[in-house]
Amino acid sequence: MVRAMSRSTRFVDACYGRPTDCTPVWLMRQAGRYQASYREIRKTVSFFDLCQNPEIAAQVTVTAVDELNADAGIIFSDILVPVRAMGAPVELTEKGPQLATPIRTRADIDALKIIDPNVECSFVMDAIKQTCAAFDGKVPLIGFAGGPVTLASYLVEGGHSNNFMHLKNMLYADPETGHALLGKLATMIARHLRAQAEAGCGAIQLFESWGGIFGPEDFREFAFRYHKQILDELSDVKVPKLLFGTGTAVVLEQLKEAGPDVVGVDWRIGLDAARKRLGPDTPLQGNLDPCCLFMDEGPLKERIQRVLAQAGDNPGYIFNLGHGILPPTKPERARFLVDTVHELTRR
Ligand code: CP3
Repeated sequence: MVRAMSRSTRFVDACYGRPTDCTPVWLMRQAGRYQASYREIRKTVSFFDLCQNPEIAAQVTVTAVDELNADAGIIFSDILVPVRAMGAPVELTEKGPQLATPIRTRADIDALKIIDPNVECSFVMDAIKQTCAAFDGKVPLIGFAGGPVTLASYLVEGGHSNNFMHLKNMLYADPETGHALLGKLATMIARHLRAQAEAGCGAIQLFESWGGIFGPEDFREFAFRYHKQILDELSDVKVPKLLFGTGTAVVLEQLKEAGPDVVGVDWRIGLDAARKRLGPDTPLQGNLDPCCLFMDEGPLKERIQRVLAQAGDNPGYIFNLGHGILPPTKPERARFLVDTVHELTRR
């Protein structure tokens, strides 16, 4: 039996492939609308105002960890927070994040401000400091940023897109302009992640949520190149770095090659297949389909067991969903998930 560990040790050790007392688990989007406590707070404050209020952002982050008994917190913010600080007119509507005027020309890109995250996003760093003080070293806090392709997709499309036509048109027809945008975003992303680690985060995650829009060659040219640049720039930052993509099974080797400590995958590939392709020394994170949380406890437990069986007994493993938790999820199912993973993996 492995000695009982603090949640900090459990999470960080798993990120580095070291043995743990049980499999650590946290859920992407674990703070959000599926929680009654979050919906209550949102009645009185708009989404981006919440992100800019360190006290409430810290409270929302801590509440999610308490309600779930998760092994890590993720700071309450959004991938679009630093992009707004660069001057992009992003608002949250019923259709998700939207820009009244998308970024489509070289002049639009040049007008985006180069920011110092410790100045323009100081509220994120304050929220991190307050959250870390509340966790008191017992729970690690994850800082994050959106990947360059994901951020560029919102900016160029002006919101969510089904075919990413405007973004791809920019990248394929006018790569010079496309690279100007991706490069500017990559610089901001590296600075934002560094500032979050310096503010106290025990890990950082890059969310390339729309990385799955490319074939292998275009992924290498427009995504991998910047993932590697960002991670290389952060090589002196001594906290685990997680790189997550959805729909990126086809380019899994490129995620590893970019150099993160942990590769996060969605449900479109089995963890056993991912392990075979990346080898035993690459810690993995994932990958239960978030829709499984709509099942009753019995069938949900079988799905959890299936994911754990595919993960095998490699200690370099963090249980998570394959993408963010969905708003209609019952909070007690999410808690059942965390407790079940701990129970089934106690060593
Ligand atoms: O616990 C946490 O993970 C909360 C922090 C967090 C949020 N967004 C809060 C949020 C994180 C890590 C994100 C990341 C994020 N934001 C991503 C990458 C992860 C992913 O899911 O792919 C992306 C693509 C976004 C962009 C974004 N922001 C979308 C698509 C939406 C609307 C979709 C939705 O669920 O409503 C947001 C808004 C948003 N970000 C909400 C929350 C809790 C909902 C806001 C509200 O209505 O209160």
